[in-house]
Amino acid sequence: MAKNLESAAEKEIIALRQELEKHNYHYHVLDNPLITDAEYDRLFHRLIELEAAHPQFAAPDSPTQKIGAPPLDKFSTVRHTLPMLSLSNANDQKDLTEFEERIARFLRSTEPIEYLVEPKIDGVAVELVYVDGRFTVGSTRGDGINGEDITLNLKTIRSIPLVLRGGTRPAPERLEVRGEVFLSRAAFQRMNRERDEAGQPVFANPRNAAAGSLKQLDSTLTAKRPLDVFFHGTGVVAGTSLASHSEFRAAIQDWGLKPVPFARLCRGIDDILKFRDDMESRRDELPYEIDGLVVKVNLHELQRRLGEIARSPRWAIAYKFKPRQATTRILDIQPQVGRTGTLTPVASLEPVAIGGVMVKSASLHNMDEINRKDIRIGDTVMVERAGDVIPYVVKVITEKRTGQEKHFCMPEHCPVCGAAVYREEGEAAYRCIGISCPAQLKESVKFFGSRNAMDIEGLGDKLIDQLVERGVVKDLGDLYSLTEEQLASMDRMAKKSAQNLLAALQRSKDSTLTRFLTALGIRHVGEATAKLLTEHFGDLKTIMNAGEEKLMEVREIGPEVAKSIARFFSQDENRQVIAKLLEAGIRFKAERIKRGALSGSTFVLTGGLETMSRVEAQRRIEALGGRISSAVSRNSNYVVAGSEPGSKLKKARELGVRIIDEQELLKLLTT
Ligand code: IVH
Repeated sequence: MAKNLESAAEKEIIALRQELEKHNYHYHVLDNPLITDAEYDRLFHRLIELEAAHPQFAAPDSPTQKIGAPPLDKFSTVRHTLPMLSLSNANDQKDLTEFEERIARFLRSTEPIEYLVEPKIDGVAVELVYVDGRFTVGSTRGDGINGEDITLNLKTIRSIPLVLRGGTRPAPERLEVRGEVFLSRAAFQRMNRERDEAGQPVFANPRNAAAGSLKQLDSTLTAKRPLDVFFHGTGVVAGTSLASHSEFRAAIQDWGLKPVPFARLCRGIDDILKFRDDMESRRDELPYEIDGLVVKVNLHELQRRLGEIARSPRWAIAYKFKPRQATTRILDIQPQVGRTGTLTPVASLEPVAIGGVMVKSASLHNMDEINRKDIRIGDTVMVERAGDVIPYVVKVITEKRTGQEKHFCMPEHCPVCGAAVYREEGEAAYRCIGISCPAQLKESVKFFGSRNAMDIEGLGDKLIDQLVERGVVKDLGDLYSLTEEQLASMDRMAKKSAQNLLAALQRSKDSTLTRFLTALGIRHVGEATAKLLTEHFGDLKTIMNAGEEKLMEVREIGPEVAKSIARFFSQDENRQVIAKLLEAGIRFKAERIKRGALSGSTFVLTGGLETMSRVEAQRRIEALGGRISSAVSRNSNYVVAGSEPGSKLKKARELGVRIIDEQELLKLLTT
């Protein structure tokens, strides 16, 4: 019976893997999904569940392995079977023409030679080895001879199949395939936005971001980055013969790997130049960065005859597009306040044309970046524009310094609203904490009215935009003095909807302290933390006056959060808005919160108890509002030492946490 069950599970596991592989191929390679994401997730989770229940059927090439593996200490080295060469460059039309003539001469060909021209992907070169169709090792280019073993990271890339598809031709015995890992511009921008929010340094361009993501020792981090890969060549291939680059492209597509898109077969230089013009003008429309074209002799037999010189194949050349860099001068640096309050220093530049676009400003990202590159007002700098990414400063041309350059400092007050600007320890970003800062007001109002906050029905994004833009709402407090007339005069608002919104505003006044604290949008204070504050302090005034140290006494509130809360309430503007809101009639009704004698205290139990079981002790502590934790930390309030206590007792002594015995616990439980 058990055997039957087992073999049923194995069958389902195998079927699910094939099914998921098929959908990966349709989604990532063909860009033509057959099922919805939700349906895919359902299959994926079913497989995770089955593999967990039947670990004997786990497999290194299961699609579930694409979520990352335990971190490595360092990457090991992989020797490429064939060296990964580099390409010689053509910088202009003349270089390209000479290349074409050289080839024709060398091959003594009277017929026009066939070239396969591909976009040059601006990413990170990698090599993947498939043995009997299974992905075994993947590496970086390194010095061309030896690279780093990044197999685990490559496995997490969605478009890399762990097993090659059969296709119209069977997968070869050995396939060493080379390609370029990259991040789309959209993914890059999203990632930088998130990093900036979290106070982490931003990446200068999508290539650096892709390289950084591939070099993670923890592959679960790589798995979170939407990396992608296109393939453009081979190392050793055994067990199949490929006569040309176009045949290579068709074959790998069949096996489930993506060749570089937008390739064209060209005959002679005119064809090549026409394709170049085409691609150069479409460059900005592509969702990823390309920095040129690679022109390759198509037939492998001709490639073999041409051979290589000076570590570059003679049969291919990289044509670089016009640089999208230029030098110009920084006229001034001004902080710009974003919708979440982050101050981003922006350089105004002496206008300069880069790749056909006039560039007048460049983001300097944050203070760390300015300091690292030592950027000063008045400096002559090299600026780069990468597609639709905001132009950025590559470097300072220090030779052009006159001594008149000035250092830039972040202001102490927000240039938009005048509230204090602060920088959290360990973060790169400076932020404005003004609750009514116009730069942030739309977001604050949206958050204030959201479901888990004040839950104001009918206060939609479009309406908020208008209310703020027309100056009707200058701070959160203004919401409660809105009139029917004002509301009805906004676009797409009728009398009825204005009345409904006023009624919703009225209803929202009947609130709770937790909701109100959440609604204020204090950094690091979401609903859960608001609840902790309510449980611990009970009323708003005490929280507003608590100060950092008292705030730290709340379980689960660490120094960073305590600082943020104390800072928020230390601002006069913020207090004024709160007063205005309370005057408008916001009231807090009692919440169903646990406030017992042990509320806010964390207990750690170690050793055996005599008068009750551990489960009972836990139940009784929790009934009085206390909490049980399994590990001792600085946040623990009591360690209860029973008979034969373990290492937790030692830890408690080291950290100076109060140690009590069973008698003392009983006393706490009965008072
Ligand atoms: S063919 C001998 N095709 O550019 C190397 N390379 O500057 C033959 N690259 O090392 C490479 N897109 O990492 C080829 N469509 C493409 C490419 C491409 C990007 C990279 C590749 C190569 C580097 C040379």
